[in-house]
Amino acid sequence: MPPPLFPPAGRPGPASSRNNKLKLPAHRMTTATASGAYPFLAEGGLGAEGIYIGRDVHAEASFVFDPFALYGKVEGFTNPNVLLAGVIGQGKSALAKSFALRSIAFGYRVYVPCDPKGEWTPVARALGGTSIALGPGLPGKLNPLDAAPRPPSVSETDWAGEIRKRRLLLLGSLARTVLGRDLLPMEHTGLDVALDAVVTRAAESGRTPLLGDIAATLNNPDELDTAGGLMSGRLGDASRDLAHAMRRLVHGDLAGMFDAPSTVTFDPNSPMLTIDLSRLGGSGDDTALVLAMTCASAWMESALSDPNGGRRWIVYDEAWRLMRHPGLLQRMQSQWKLSRGLGIANLMVIHRLSDLLTAGDAGSRGRALAEGLLADCSTRIIYRQETDQLHAAAALLGLTSVETEAISHLNRGRGLWRVAGRSFIVQHQLHPHELALFDTDARMH
Ligand SMILES: Nc1ncnc2c1ncn2[C@@H]1O[C@H](COP(=O)(O)OP(=O)(O)O)[C@@H](O)[C@H]1O
Ligand SMILES: [Mg+2]
Repeated sequence: MPPPLFPPAGRPGPASSRNNKLKLPAHRMTTATASGAYPFLAEGGLGAEGIYIGRDVHAEASFVFDPFALYGKVEGFTNPNVLLAGVIGQGKSALAKSFALRSIAFGYRVYVPCDPKGEWTPVARALGGTSIALGPGLPGKLNPLDAAPRPPSVSETDWAGEIRKRRLLLLGSLARTVLGRDLLPMEHTGLDVALDAVVTRAAESGRTPLLGDIAATLNNPDELDTAGGLMSGRLGDASRDLAHAMRRLVHGDLAGMFDAPSTVTFDPNSPMLTIDLSRLGGSGDDTALVLAMTCASAWMESALSDPNGGRRWIVYDEAWRLMRHPGLLQRMQSQWKLSRGLGIANLMVIHRLSDLLTAGDAGSRGRALAEGLLADCSTRIIYRQETDQLHAAAALLGLTSVETEAISHLNRGRGLWRVAGRSFIVQHQLHPHELALFDTDARMH
């Protein structure tokens, strides 16, 4: 057995090792070089401005963080978005919730567009916010085709174009997710034509368009062919699969929830708004939940289009479920591009870094989207990863071997924070009130 590195006091190690230690020349290097070997050495914190998170384990100091304060001040910090990854039960949601709670004290607002476990509802209630519960037999309904209110700086024509683009992106993503494949060129045209026909008709009767109207139009080949003009005689046939895909959202397990005028009006002054999808009913099939998450997100994101809405957080807890569907990733990524100009930061919670890779093989569009989304997160917080995930995590995030080693040994509430290329090990500290409010273990018992 090799002698211990630091022999206990009063019991010196073998003479040879003691002498070797004394003869070692002092090794000097720049902090930049040292940080490669030992990344936590060269850090002086991120500044005193921000929201208290807990303890910087290596610096023995408080760790505070505020992406809005760092944005534009720290080199390489190009966006306020945060990726949070870790195995189940490590305290990812607890961190997101305490970050949300503490942000509200700074005047931020917090939005949780899809909460599949219903665990954010007590948090919203405690903070004077609102929760909308969706599920069979519940009164709440959301129309994902609701038009976002027009910001005063944008002309009516431009805004109409923007809304059309967003609706098409949503419809295309939903259809791709149900069909499990990319849309064919004629199917794109079919959706286009159906949307325009439905919007025109809805405007004439003073209603908002609904997913059910789109499904009905897609299911009516004659109407599509007439509306399609030059494509006449073919568009109706080419849109058959689309019609079936849309039917899934209108009938079946999601019936009524996303196919009716919204029963909720968005209150921009509420400090927190969450959408509780825990009563959706588990059919064993993830697709219904994932489609519901997408519709709920689209509705909420469009309500957040006010550029004067202040600093806001959108928390995508359990976002890993969406990662497997390139159509949904694409929608999310365009939403993130829009949100930057609106003072909105996104926090995305996943389990493993390889969740990002399930969107497609290397070189595929899904993979490119996932990597783009990762690049859109200047802050990456890595909680404990399974041993077989370490390699993927290190490769995707460009971690040093010391960092990789560190993330295999993290305890609950402790994570590797990579903020624009700098590294910290941070222990998230929960106040007893927070602990009681956030306890997800209690529900399991
Ligand atoms: N920093 C922490 N200190 C003490 N307990 C914590 C901490 N973070 C989380 N917990 C507890 O661990 C349990 C699981 O946390 P949770 O946030 O639901 O995990 P995850 O979202 O990663 O699955 C919760 O009951 C919570 O109260
Ligand atoms: Mg969680």
